Amino acid sequence: MELSARVLTADGLGGRILKVNHAGENGAVNIYSGQILMARLRAPSIVSELQEFRGHEERHREIFATELKQRGVRRCRSYVLCGVGGYVLGLFTGLFGRGAIAATTVAVERVVLSHLRKQLEVLEGRDALASAAVRAIVSEEQEHHDRSKTHAIASPFWLTVLAPVVSVATEAVIWAGMRL
Ligand SMILES: [Fe+2]
Ligand SMILES: [Fe+2]
Repeated sequence: MELSARVLTADGLGGRILKVNHAGENGAVNIYSGQILMARLRAPSIVSELQEFRGHEERHREIFATELKQRGVRRCRSYVLCGVGGYVLGLFTGLFGRGAIAATTVAVERVVLSHLRKQLEVLEGRDALASAAVRAIVSEEQEHHDRSKTHAIASPFWLTVLAPVVSVATEAVIWAGMRL
């Protein structure tokens, strides 16, 4: 993560990271909502797992919302767009069933986990509360990645076709969010 002076000015680095993560979690909640809707028809066997994951994402969103509120920092300007974009991505990928849904989660979480690790490095010793908020979600994001990977490798087509596109989109959203 390149942390330019511009990024550092807005709400401080911790606030900036909390805003992006909060918006990202809203995206994640909505990806799962879109996928759950489609999975009811296309992959009913994974609906309960998706609901479980969405429950985690709602809690993650709440963790960041609470921390932002305590700092008096407004939500990111990308928040609504993340939600709408996430929902559309969820509907679209859900249309293709279990393999596409799992490949999407693997791709998103791979990017997210790498950003979370970098965030923890830069927050270390600078912002204990932001660092704690990030640390609170890492193990569940890892779990989403790992459990989805087992479904995804059963349909390598989607991992090959969809995952690179979703990875680039996720990187772009985080990049833009850090600058909004
Ligand atoms: Fe999350
Ligand atoms: Fe997740």
